[in-house]
Amino acid sequence: MDKKKMRVFMGQFMEMTTGAAVMGVVAVADRIGLFREMAGAAPADLDHWVEATGLQPRYLEEILSTLSAAGFLEFDADQDLFSLPDEHAACLADESSPYCLVGWSQMLPALYGAIPGVAHAAREGGGVAFADFGPDMVEGIARANGPGIRVLLTRKWLPAMPDVVARLEGGVRVADVGCGSGEAVFALAKAYPASTIVGYDIDSHSIELARGRAQSQQLSNVSFEQCSAESIPAEPGFDFVTTFDVIHDLVEPIPVLRRIREVLNPEGTYLMVEPVAGDALAENLHPAGALTYAMSTLHCMTQSLAHGGAGLGAAWGPRRAEGHCREAGFGEFDRIDVENAFNAFYRVSG
Ligand SMILES: C[S@@+](CC[C@H](N)C(=O)[O-])C[C@H]1O[C@@H](n2cnc3c(N)ncnc32)[C@H](O)[C@@H]1O
Repeated sequence: MDKKKMRVFMGQFMEMTTGAAVMGVVAVADRIGLFREMAGAAPADLDHWVEATGLQPRYLEEILSTLSAAGFLEFDADQDLFSLPDEHAACLADESSPYCLVGWSQMLPALYGAIPGVAHAAREGGGVAFADFGPDMVEGIARANGPGIRVLLTRKWLPAMPDVVARLEGGVRVADVGCGSGEAVFALAKAYPASTIVGYDIDSHSIELARGRAQSQQLSNVSFEQCSAESIPAEPGFDFVTTFDVIHDLVEPIPVLRRIREVLNPEGTYLMVEPVAGDALAENLHPAGALTYAMSTLHCMTQSLAHGGAGLGAAWGPRRAEGHCREAGFGEFDRIDVENAFNAFYRVSG
C-alpha cells in the first residue's frame, strides 16, 4: 500500500467532511439572519453581536467560532472582533446579488434528509418523490437558482438571442415550464411588461409559493397553473417557452418535450437551460462534476425514478439533450454561447 497516497486521500476526505459539517452551521446562521445582521457592519466583539442579534450568547460564540475557523468571517485575535467582509456578504447576505450562494445551505439538509430513502431505493428500486424532500428543497432550489435567473436571465442570457428579445419587448405569450416558485416568471414579467408569462409546475407547494409572491409583487402579466407539463393547454399557443433545470428531472422527458413543441407557435422558440455537463463520465471528472452527480443521486435522478421515470440524472450532457429534442420532433437545436459555470443553454425550435 502507498501510504503517501492514503494520506493524500485522508486529507481530501477530511476536507470534504469539514465542508459538509460547516455547511450545517452556515444553514443555522442563514436561518437566524446572522449574515444579514453582520453585512456592512463594523468589526465587533461577541457582546456586541449578542446585543445586536438577541441570540443566545453560547450558541452565537460557537457559531462565530465555526465561521471564523472556516474563513467565512474574519476574526481580529488582538481585539476579539468578528466581521463579515463585503466580498463574503455578497455571497451570504445579499439575495439580489448574482453571486449569492447561501441558498445552497438550505438545500443541502433537505438532500441529506433523503439519504435513508435513496439507500433503500438503491437496494429495492424506486426513489424519493419530489414532495418528500419538503418545503426547504423548494425554497432552497429557488434561492440557489434564483440569483442567476433574477439578474442574468434578462441582462446576459436572453441578449444572446436578440430576435427573441425583440419579440418579448413587443409583447408575446410565454410559458415557463417547471417554474418552481416563479423566479424566471417574475424576471421575464418585470423586464418585458408587454408580454404575458404563465408559470406551470406539477408541485402544489411551488405553485402556492409562486402565487403568494405574485400577489405581493403586484404584477398584472403573470399567472401560475398547477399542472403536469404534458397537459399544458395548446390553445392559445406560446411564442416563447422556457425550462430552467427541469428536463433532466422529469419522469417522462420525451412526452414533455413533445408537448412543449405542440404548444409553441410555428415561429416560436424554446430555451432549454440544463446543468453544464459533458456527455461522458470521463469529461466530468472534476469538482463541478462531483457536485452534479451528487445532486443527481440525492435528488434529480431519484425523484424521477420514484415514479418509474427515465431518471436521466443531472449530468446528461448536450448530445443526449439534442437527441431527446429531435426525438420529440424539434428540427433545430443549437447550444447558445453564454458564459456560465452552472448552466448550458440550448435554443430549440422547428
Ligand atoms: C429543479 S426544479 C427547478 C425549478 C425552477 N425552474 C428553478 O430553476 O428554480 C424542477 C421543477 O420541475 C417541476 N416538475 C417536475 N416534473 C414536472 C412535470 N411533469 N410538469 C411540470 N413541472 C414539473 C418540479 O416540481 C420542480 O419545481
